Amino acid sequence: MPIQDKKQDTKPTYYLTTPIYYVNARPHLGHTYTTVAADAVARWKRMRGYDVLFLTGTDEHGQKIERSAAKAGKTPQEFAAEVSSEFRGLWDRMGLTYDDYIRTTEPRHKQGVQHLFSELQKRGFIYKGTYSGQYCVWDELYVEGTPGTPCPDCGRITETVSEENYFFKLSAFERKLLEYYEQHPEFIRPEARRNEVMAFVQGGLRDLSISRTSFNWGIPVPGDEKHVIYVWMDALANYITALGYGSENCDNFNKYWPADVHLIGKEISRFHCVYWPAFLMAAELPLPKSVVAHGWLLFEQSKMSKSRGNIVRAETVLDVLGADALRYFLLREVTFGQDGSFSFDALVQRYNADLANGYGNLVSRTLAMIVKYFDGVVPAGEAADASIRATLEQQTEQFDQRLEPLDFSRGLEHAWSAIAAVDSYITAQAPWKVAAKDEAESRAKLAGILYTASEAIRMITALVYPVIPEAATKVWQQLGLGDIAKADLKDLKWGDLPSGTKLGELGSVFPRAEKEAIERMQKMEEDRQSQTAADQEAASEQAAARQTKTSGPAEQPPPPHVPEPFSATGLSPEQEADAVAQQAAADQQVGPVSAVSDPLPPPQPVVEPVSPAVPAEPKIGIEDFAKVDLRVAIIRVAERVPKADRLLRLEVDLGYEQRQILAGIAGAYTPESLIGRKVVIVANLAPRKLRGLESNGMIVAASIGEKGTPVLAGFLEDVEIGARLK
Ligand code: MSP
Repeated sequence: MPIQDKKQDTKPTYYLTTPIYYVNARPHLGHTYTTVAADAVARWKRMRGYDVLFLTGTDEHGQKIERSAAKAGKTPQEFAAEVSSEFRGLWDRMGLTYDDYIRTTEPRHKQGVQHLFSELQKRGFIYKGTYSGQYCVWDELYVEGTPGTPCPDCGRITETVSEENYFFKLSAFERKLLEYYEQHPEFIRPEARRNEVMAFVQGGLRDLSISRTSFNWGIPVPGDEKHVIYVWMDALANYITALGYGSENCDNFNKYWPADVHLIGKEISRFHCVYWPAFLMAAELPLPKSVVAHGWLLFEQSKMSKSRGNIVRAETVLDVLGADALRYFLLREVTFGQDGSFSFDALVQRYNADLANGYGNLVSRTLAMIVKYFDGVVPAGEAADASIRATLEQQTEQFDQRLEPLDFSRGLEHAWSAIAAVDSYITAQAPWKVAAKDEAESRAKLAGILYTASEAIRMITALVYPVIPEAATKVWQQLGLGDIAKADLKDLKWGDLPSGTKLGELGSVFPRAEKEAIERMQKMEEDRQSQTAADQEAASEQAAARQTKTSGPAEQPPPPHVPEPFSATGLSPEQEADAVAQQAAADQQVGPVSAVSDPLPPPQPVVEPVSPAVPAEPKIGIEDFAKVDLRVAIIRVAERVPKADRLLRLEVDLGYEQRQILAGIAGAYTPESLIGRKVVIVANLAPRKLRGLESNGMIVAASIGEKGTPVLAGFLEDVEIGARLK
């Protein structure tokens, strides 16, 4: 309808992309993490009134895929189509709201890539030369070194190639790129990735080989069909070919380009922040506004990836806990931009603590009281509580502020602070006691409490909708507000819940997960291994890689990472060092596990038992007390220390830093009960070692009874992490 079109045109646009995933592996949680994050951003931006274009898809060309297909006894086309539809099928099952799905084997893409190649050629940025050297087919990576050199990324032996290639004059863009980074500090986020990329470019750029002749599975170079275009040039161009670049119809390109955000995993920063902008500069096209690189999802201490064989499938979690549980966990647990660990234990803990007992319980207790005391009709809210209203308004604002830089974890902390505040409010007001009194005044008070609680739930539900859309949709219906997808949530403000609204049908949104859910998921994951052609193929590749690694030249330690002359390595030296360290830790079981055999004396309790009697010590001056840096921190990780009955290893977050503390509180607290709990720590205590592990600070606790049972210090109000006690 013309009127709607016009209205749409007035909306600001927001173009958001994920990487396009290789089709040699079925989707796992690593891919799901990026796509879920993008979906949450897309939903949030739509909710705030943007005309969003959210693009995802699959990267289907290259020798790696050609070989995978051959091993599976399929043509590359069949193989790619099969795995691509698995990705798409999973995103659909999860209800992800991508607007377009691009496959690099589509004609629209081929046309666009060839157009881009020709444009660069026309402008004199492409020339012919010869490349002789090493190439890793697995990583589509040129590697510096002699024949037999293993790939610095995956350790597989590189292949020696000698080819006549087309080259892109990347070296011509060194200065321009550096100037661009300087002038647009927001282009690469977070800062750590920006620094890495800048250091790489400052180290000097050499021209980039952008064609291959040794295989056919790719897009032919226009006019010289025995060459296919380098997969990374092919792949990166998807961000514009999906918009119609190089075709008759460029409307979407004109409307949405440049992209607002390319969301990627950190290992492909260099491709997106060096090669891609250089191609665009050469073609005289605008650059994307930002490239945001998130960290890695780790499983069993190393990056979850098919080649490491440590993957978990999203389907396993979907079958047991549902899509919202997975979305919430990924976005809440992993601090955006940093690496984060996945475990079934942590997933179930978060689910129960935050979704079942937190949000789910608040909704069901509040709405059940409206049914009981007001026949299921939202009462008039004249007596709405001012402090709850202020909390909601404040947390809503902070949620938005955190989501702008895609800091989901902190954003969700604000939403859950609001949930905690409303929970405490209900407990303090005890509506069930108010209801027991018969006076009219009590009735009005009861109405005020329940209006306040239900209006708060409405605002919280609107806030968390981008992250847990299924649950939010149900709660919106239970509130009697209809379809949340059609609601105008652009300006979320207090008081928009009309009193008199008849509640919908009630039902539990997040039923509590039992312990056996963990075992079930673990079992399902085992059963799911190697089910598809792609997996079997990956397994044999992995086996082959292991074989070459343990025989002949691959036995040598991999060389230090050096920037390749004109190539693309996905990992910076730091990232590689990280990955190697993580792998070494996993392989050699260093870290917490080795502490088992640490022959140190038994740990001293970190919480010293103190008699409740008046202390005998002399009094101290305020300046002495001021030396003690007491801070509020939140426990992110808690686990037992093997063979140390009383000791727990905690990872606490102070907002400005994360650190490890060992605490002798295992006799009083289970690790699960501590995750997400705010505690007080002595932040400036000199580090010390317990059982071979460093403890950086001390948790403050009261010491009760003869046995000195520890009881952790805490607050009734919600206090921000990092706050100082003085
Ligand atoms: N095809 C290229 C990307 C081309 S984009 C123009 C590629 N594909 S991939 O299948 O390997 O996907 C990589 C991306 O998947 C990462 O950048 C990240 O977004 C996501 N992840 C895959 N494993 C991951 C983790 N273990 N952790 C976090 N993200 C991960 O590279």
